[in-house]
Formats: sequence, C-alpha cells, structure tokens
Amino acid sequence: GPTLRQFADRADLRIGTAVDMAALAEDRTYRRTVGREFDSVTAENVMKWESVEPRRGVHDWKAADDLVRHARAHGQVVRGHTLVWHSQLPGWLTAGVADGSIGPAELRGILRKHITTEVKRYKGRIQQWDVVNEVFEEDGSLRNSLWLRELGPSYIEDAFRWAHAADPKAKLFLNDYNVEGVNPKSTAYYELAKRLRAEGVPVHGFGAQGHLAIQYGFPGQVAENLARFEALGMRTAFTEVDVRMILPTDSDKLATQASYFRRLLDACLGARSCTSFTVWGFTDRYSWVPGVFAGQGAATPMDEEYGRKAAYGALREGLAEG
Ligand code: G3I
Repeated sequence: GPTLRQFADRADLRIGTAVDMAALAEDRTYRRTVGREFDSVTAENVMKWESVEPRRGVHDWKAADDLVRHARAHGQVVRGHTLVWHSQLPGWLTAGVADGSIGPAELRGILRKHITTEVKRYKGRIQQWDVVNEVFEEDGSLRNSLWLRELGPSYIEDAFRWAHAADPKAKLFLNDYNVEGVNPKSTAYYELAKRLRAEGVPVHGFGAQGHLAIQYGFPGQVAENLARFEALGMRTAFTEVDVRMILPTDSDKLATQASYFRRLLDACLGARSCTSFTVWGFTDRYSWVPGVFAGQGAATPMDEEYGRKAAYGALREGLAEG
C-alpha cells in the first residue's frame, strides 16, 4: 500500500524522521525504511557541535555530509539540528569556559564562527534550522546555560542573525520540548518570538519537539498554541515526536500511544502554518528513550523488528484523511 510519504505528499505535509547514522550505515531494513516512508530527515546527533568540531578548529563533516547526500538522493529535505544548545558541546569548549581560558568575548566569536561555518557549509540544502534549542525552563525563565551565563540573553537574537546571514533562504526555528500545548514555557517562547520579530530578528518558526509519555496525559490546547505562533506570521512544526510508555507494552497502552501520535498529527494538519511533522526515530530498535528513562520505551511507530504498531496505522490514516 501507499507509504507515509505518499500520503503526506497528498496532504502537503513533510513527514520526517530523525536518522541514526550508525543504523543507516549498517542496517539495510533501516535504510530502506528511511527512504520509503519519509520525505524529510533530521540528524539525530551528527550535526551537533561535539560531532562537527571535536577539536578546536578541526572539523569532521563526514557523517553530516553523508546524511545530506543520502537525503538528496532520496528526494528528501533536511532539517538542521541544532546550532546552539547547552548539551553535546565539544569538550574543548566546556573545559575552556570552565577554566577561564575562554572568556565571554572570545566565546561570542567562537559561537558566531560555529554558526556561520556550519550554516554556510549546507547553504541551500537545509530547509529549516533549529537555531536555538531548549533555552527556557518549565516555569518560563531562561535556562541557566553556559550561553546565558557567559553571553547574557542577547545570544539568542545574535544566533538568528548570524544564521540568517549565512543562509538567507533557510527557515530559522526555535525548538523545545514540553511546549506542545499552552503553558508557561510555550508562552515564554511566544513572548520571545513576538518581541524578536517586532525588532526585525529573522525568527521564522517554532518547533515543538513532541516527546510525550502516555502516563503524563496529552497536552492541553495544542491547536491554540500553534495558532498563536501562526498569528505572528510564523511557521510551526512538530520536530521530534515520540510517545513513550512504562514497559512492558500491552494493547491498551499501544492504542493510547497511537491516539497521541494521531492527535499531534491532526493538530499539525489543522494548522496552515504547520508543514512538517518529524518523528524522533521510527523503530524501537534504535531509540534514545530506554537509555534515558529506565523501564520506559516502545516510543516509536514500529517495533524492534520493524513491525507496524497501532501508531504507524494512526499516522497513515491521519495523513490519508488530512
Ligand atoms: O559519541 C558517543 C560514541 O562515541 C559512543 O560510542 C556511544 C556509546 O554509547 O556514545 C556516543 O554518544 C552518545 C550520542 O547520543 C551518540 O550516539 C551519547 O552517549 C548519548 O547521550 C547521545 O544521546 C543523544 C541525546 O540527544 C543527547 O542529549 C540521543 O541519541 C538523541 O536522540 C538525543 O536527542 C535529543 C535532541 O537532540 C534534542 N531534544 C531531545 C532529544 C532526546 O533527548
């Protein structure tokens, strides 16, 4: 039957997945499924700073280049992930800041160079960039990251300006988790986006990651949340959707999971601004969840043997109807 990407095409939506480059290299079924089911890809890890600049001034673009080339060969767009984050920073950078050998002025130059170099390298080949990732706390205050401590809050607008200068056509996104519905954290993003756009800062999109867990319930006011960013003239996207559960699985849990995937997809299909829906992995064979949340998992639409779970069917039906 038709694949997710065939239905998504008709619904005028990009359906994406995070790609684990080790799995892409060594697992034929994985590789075939990425090409068959998705028309958008995001590097799960290989475009992050620690991957692309493991030693200061020494870049390793191999895996990121491979993904961009693979995407092009399969008619897929690429979401770039991610330029500024507090996590997965290179050791030389965190150590240099910690021991005082890299001060704020130098750090700002290093950040500017990182953004410029990476965005320019893939200019014209990345449709959307997650420029800043996870900059707010749950209560809506700015996260106390290395970036905030060293550079102050203006690092956010600087990052967008630098990325825009490096690739004026790429759509530049804010991105975070627990911001699917209306809550203090998503409201902080809304207020930030509103202010930055009023000041002419090139912020084009709002990405809700969509890492849900069935035991916490479905977020409230998802449609309203997308609508308020749309009213600012922004794009929206679900960028990292998965729905974990406490193991073992049973058919009730899998049905709830399927309904959560479907409800996020429907929210996206219902918003003109939402043109991209990405899952953070499509098979339970490769998923970050069990390694981080002990006793939880089964968070993706396919099981460890690539069997289609209820969630896969729910996505396909949603796309077919959308
Ligand atoms: O690089 C080493 C490698 O050399 C070693 O062989 C391997 C052995 O475990 O570990 C490798 O590093 C791991 C890396 O993934 C690459 O596989 C790290 O330990 C591991 O912590 C890292 O996890 C990633 C996580 O981000 C880090 O924060 C996950 O794969 C990735 O799915 C996850 O993705 C994030 C998004 O970027 C942002 N939003 C949340 C999402 C889930 O946490």
